[in-house]
Amino acid sequence: MNASNLPLLLIIFSLQTNFVYLSLSYDRDQGDYDCGEDDTSDSQTCQMRSRPKEDHKSQIPRDPLIDCHPDKNVNQDSCTARGCLWNEDNDATNAPSCIYPEGHGYLVRGEITQTNNGLEAELERIKTPKIYDSEIYDRLVVTAEYQTESRLRIRIAPVGVKRYEVPKEAVDIPSPETPPSGDRLLYDVTLVEGKPQFGIIVKRKGESVAVFSTDLPGMTYSDQFIQITTRLPSDNLYGFGEHNHRRFRHDMNWKTWSIFTRSIGPIEPDNLYGAHPVYMNIENDGRASVVLLKNSNAMDITLQPSPNPAITYRVIGGILDFYIFMGPSPEQAVQQYIQAIGRPVMPPYWSLGYHLCRWGYKDIEDMKMVINRTRAAGIPYDGQWVDIEYMYKYYDFTYDRKKWTALPEVVQDLHENNQRFVVIIDPGIGANRTIIEEAAVNSPGYNMFDDGVQQDIFIKNESNKVLIGEVWPGVTAFPDFTNPKTQDWWLKWMNFLYHEENIKYDALWIDMNEPASFVHGSTEGCKHTRWNYPPYTPHVAGSEVDGKIYERTICMDYIQHWGRHYDVHSLYGHSEAIQTYNSLLMQSPDKRPWTMTRSSFVGTGKYATKWMGDNESRWSNLHWSIVSIMEFSMFGFSMNGVDICGFWYEAEYEMCLRWHQLGAFYPFARNHNGRWKEQIFRHQDPAAWDQRFVDIVKPVLMTRYRLLPYLYTLMYKAHEEGHMVMKALLFEFPTDRNTWSIDRQFLLGPALLISPALEPNQTIVEAYFPKARWYEYNQGNEIIPGGTTHNLYTPLNKFNLHIRGGHVIAVQKPSTTTYESRKNPMGLIVALDEDQLSNGQLFLDDGQSLETSKNNKSTIIQFKMMKAGELLIQSVINNFKGAEDLYIKSIDIYGLNRIPSDVQINHESVDDSNIRQSGQIIQILNLSIKLTNKALITWMIY
Ligand code: NOJ
Repeated sequence: MNASNLPLLLIIFSLQTNFVYLSLSYDRDQGDYDCGEDDTSDSQTCQMRSRPKEDHKSQIPRDPLIDCHPDKNVNQDSCTARGCLWNEDNDATNAPSCIYPEGHGYLVRGEITQTNNGLEAELERIKTPKIYDSEIYDRLVVTAEYQTESRLRIRIAPVGVKRYEVPKEAVDIPSPETPPSGDRLLYDVTLVEGKPQFGIIVKRKGESVAVFSTDLPGMTYSDQFIQITTRLPSDNLYGFGEHNHRRFRHDMNWKTWSIFTRSIGPIEPDNLYGAHPVYMNIENDGRASVVLLKNSNAMDITLQPSPNPAITYRVIGGILDFYIFMGPSPEQAVQQYIQAIGRPVMPPYWSLGYHLCRWGYKDIEDMKMVINRTRAAGIPYDGQWVDIEYMYKYYDFTYDRKKWTALPEVVQDLHENNQRFVVIIDPGIGANRTIIEEAAVNSPGYNMFDDGVQQDIFIKNESNKVLIGEVWPGVTAFPDFTNPKTQDWWLKWMNFLYHEENIKYDALWIDMNEPASFVHGSTEGCKHTRWNYPPYTPHVAGSEVDGKIYERTICMDYIQHWGRHYDVHSLYGHSEAIQTYNSLLMQSPDKRPWTMTRSSFVGTGKYATKWMGDNESRWSNLHWSIVSIMEFSMFGFSMNGVDICGFWYEAEYEMCLRWHQLGAFYPFARNHNGRWKEQIFRHQDPAAWDQRFVDIVKPVLMTRYRLLPYLYTLMYKAHEEGHMVMKALLFEFPTDRNTWSIDRQFLLGPALLISPALEPNQTIVEAYFPKARWYEYNQGNEIIPGGTTHNLYTPLNKFNLHIRGGHVIAVQKPSTTTYESRKNPMGLIVALDEDQLSNGQLFLDDGQSLETSKNNKSTIIQFKMMKAGELLIQSVINNFKGAEDLYIKSIDIYGLNRIPSDVQINHESVDDSNIRQSGQIIQILNLSIKLTNKALITWMIY
């Protein structure tokens, strides 16, 4: 592509710079002084609209304030010693007390060049002080690469220095072979040369508000401290993880969130198991962009509020590698992101069932007792999981033949009952000589540690010494899953459990992979190197006191195949997920691998599903679960969930019951609880309570099973197209500002709205219904009017599920396993919109083979209403043989409100006795429409 195809590029030279700078400030004045009246928590933001006092320091920028002293012990002297400004106003606003003046950063050196797909320039450092003991780079190169019409990459790296970058094997966002055509780009890019400092400005094409702009002071690029601030078009910010944010829309009031994978429960605002340096911003008109910083090093993210919303990144390694996704709708922006990092793995159908797990089954009898009582209670239940106690002294890929003698038979029994079995695996490989020998007696042929040493796959230091930490088995070594050699070794031991130990697991649950270690660094601690004690330590949990970044994990100076642990720490779980996925695939090449991981990085969703770790059996966690699952949907995980009824502490009756009414609609629904040393928390599976509990919980789980054809279709859409499954309301109603901060309700796909009870003794749920037609699931009552909040009466035995008009949902009569359910008759829910129309789709395959869509083994049925009273059912792809046996036996029409006078199937009238009204739902019963045959259903209202 030649330069003339590029959009009109504003390459602004010195004289013009100030003008652009001022005009941007003007834009911001127009746009960002909006009060955001939809969110009361932002009232402080509204009060802060007035400009910072002018009298005090005329030098203090009116723009975002960038902290020049984020490290400890700030005072006026230490501030001015850095050449920065002391900000006396900070108390009132939470703003930093020491801030950068204009002119700290870099300038463009020489020409800005147009490349065949973007812009490139060299930068030169101006005044930026060297505030941390780390080599500072004087020259940088910045590249803006137009990757697609909606995706832009901005890469900034030092000139002539090879630095660690997230490897392609971890995250591959390839540059397209042919650059996008300039006139179709959704963005304009400007490089501001300098005066007062260099910046990049990205705007929507031909518009004035910048979605991303960095022309602010304080940009610093040194070996172990990189800092950049980006101005935001609004303070509607979502994402970044993994944390317990407690709200979906961020609190921008000078919050700092650290990103660095860490084994810690989602309770406090600490950095948690996953690393997802990505956010979505919604502009004041409802358009959105997503911005990823592709960097795996530890970092701090500081948010600052209106009137100058901004993000400051402080990263301690790697490079600045931003990807900007222009949307313009929130759904499109997230979809573009997910498509770039890797679309979510397609889960097997059975995994969408309900699961039971527990850390603290005393022995196999205890687990069998739970299996039996759950079956006896008729609870829908597909997956039984075991935690670490099944292993011989917590040694991976063994099972304890004494306490768990009959495990192979129990697994067989599960399989005979069409249920599945999942085992936990930890990355810490037991290295205690005595136990290794015992384990070999328990499990003849077992020598996983020695084999690992021989294959040279453990993480070692520069002197070739294997790092020894401590996890459940006691002393442990840690496999380097970034090393291709580790793959065969991992598969070999997976096969050992499957074949030699005869434990026929159906999926693997990979835990503790941040990686977690109970001793800090190693059994010998860590050396005092710049990796273990970096010059700037982000606010990661555990490092507060002495700057130890390796708290509860392994030393940072050890070496892995992809790089130093310091750089690749947050890729540990990601790399394990990749190798586990690959191993499962090699083990059973025709079967869809299913892995669930605790630690994750950008793109892990392509290989594994995710649960959110060790939550608490407390009411607050019900609400927080919605926030975290909605965030992880944005991060590219279609199937995710939290432990239903909570992990830590004793569950309580009402809470556990309400949690089931909520968790029945998580994409991944598993009840799991924990123990604390010898204290084993009470059983919390549904049948552990009383008959009333079972009577209330069973129908909601049955409802989940009834809706599984729809949920599975959503999984397919996520896998094929990068859509989200469980998502915030704002994605479907982006211009309705009321939805922007809703995080106590959620959607499953576009059509189902869940408004759970989240508080003790709650009988009323205040639920917002955006403008659309909405129907209560059980009775079909329409919620009128849309666009407002309704009080929903929700006694303990009731849950709130609403269907959105305009959608046809395929359902199936539920049984207690998905295997049985899948053979049952199907039905349709036809929810009419304002025009009496409704459409939908159903995806079907065998539920377990790999890539059925690509391999022509799937079926897609389309439900289409071209005009009121006429529904056409038609297969658009018909390659799944099993679909031939399925029949639609009933159609439930929501929103019709009157029994139609004449219903016809393919022009033949349906007998009146088969048409009836249940609540507000019009039901057409006793049908026998072959799913894969074309059928026209018509009804008339006189
Ligand atoms: C930590 C996991 O988060 C939890 O789910 C599990 O039960 C324990 N490890 C024990 O394996």
